[in-house]
Amino acid sequence: MRVHHIGYLVKKIEKAQAEFTKLGYETEAETVYDGLREIDICFMVKDGTRVELVAPKTETSVVTGLMGRYKNSPYHICYESDDFDGDVENLTKNGYAQIDEPMPAPALGGRRVVFLMNSFLGMIEILEA
Ligand code: NI
Repeated sequence: MRVHHIGYLVKKIEKAQAEFTKLGYETEAETVYDGLREIDICFMVKDGTRVELVAPKTETSVVTGLMGRYKNSPYHICYESDDFDGDVENLTKNGYAQIDEPMPAPALGGRRVVFLMNSFLGMIEILEA
């Protein structure tokens, strides 16, 4: 598995995008609305590090609950996997609990993603290569 991005929770995606731009990040993909999760997503890159800005668009979005806890903050690292089903199965046998079903990610060309939780590491995301 390879590091694909750092998920970064933000309240206002345009404001956050402007701030990351000031720090030298370039917008890799303009903001996309993910209707399954009810969030806006924007990818930015600097020095080979990709940051995924995620902003809730509704009170029922998948990250609305997290927003109360994290505010504007990184909240997961995503790993790209060449063997999505195999890696997810392996992780769930080794201390990671799957917290949602694999779902296509519109902001990533419809590739499947799934989130897992670990007691000592918090949340990670696995992305199908
Ligand atoms: Ni992510």
